[in-house]
Amino acid sequence: MKGIILAGGYGTRLYPTTKVINKHLIPIYNKPMVYYPLSVLMLCGIRDVLIVTNPDDMSAFEKLLGDGSHLGISVSYTSQNEPKGLAHGLLMGEEFASGDSVCLILGDNIFYGHGLPELLRGARKLVEEKGGACVFGYYVKDPERFGVVEFDRSGKAVSLEEKPSNPRSNYAVVGLYFYDSTVFERAKKISPSSRGELEITSVNQSYLDDGKLEVRILGRGYAWFDAGTYDSFLKAGEFVATIERRTGLMIACLEEIAFNNGWIDEVQLKKLADSLKNTEYGHYLYKLLGEEAVGKL
Ligand code: G1P
Repeated sequence: MKGIILAGGYGTRLYPTTKVINKHLIPIYNKPMVYYPLSVLMLCGIRDVLIVTNPDDMSAFEKLLGDGSHLGISVSYTSQNEPKGLAHGLLMGEEFASGDSVCLILGDNIFYGHGLPELLRGARKLVEEKGGACVFGYYVKDPERFGVVEFDRSGKAVSLEEKPSNPRSNYAVVGLYFYDSTVFERAKKISPSSRGELEITSVNQSYLDDGKLEVRILGRGYAWFDAGTYDSFLKAGEFVATIERRTGLMIACLEEIAFNNGWIDEVQLKKLADSLKNTEYGHYLYKLLGEEAVGKL
């Protein structure tokens, strides 16, 4: 399975900041936002990742993450010339996927919770072994802001709607989607919505119509944020800061995940720590190695 991060769009709700910087590069507390979705893909065991972004922003992402080899992964980039919707962004990854299944994650979605890697790997396994698609529903108080899934009494998903004014349930479909290789053919067949976008919900609807959509619950033990406004940025940042300060453990430290996954060794991690030795982030990497930090803050 390959991973695709959608990091395009103009982030107009975050103007004027997003006039000069892509939304997904703005920090959530102490690291750029794109670290969070990338960490989710890595926790899922995915090592081949495509970042879809605006042509003007590609070089900044490349500067940040390079080719991914320092993390034992491969990161490539492609541009989405026009923001025609999430399903349009997904289509930019067809060549990259080259017939493989994909995990699509929205660049502004942040996930946290005990057991997340197992949950992710379970969805991946399901799609790799049985085909179809797997998405997650999360109970929210404002479902009208999201894609909404309705369940029947047995817990089976029966309907999907994108930002309905009268939601049929409180379950939002989060921005993390596991798809088999038929997803691109499906995405090509959908029509633009009333707001003129190719909606990811229409892609999910195509799987639902065929009886091939598994919707799992992301329970209340998980935190899920989508950060698209200054307020939601602040809330997500405060959440990350609270957890990190309490535990002393970082959320979405890519080097740590790569190390724990066995994708980089101690020598490589030490090299990364040395290159950041005068930063808090670097000191955290030394701690993972059980070493005294050498740099000053
Ligand atoms: C998008 C999707 C929506 C989903 C949400 C999750 O909405 O269209 O179905 O629930 O992401 O973050 P957007 O946030 O782009 O408006």
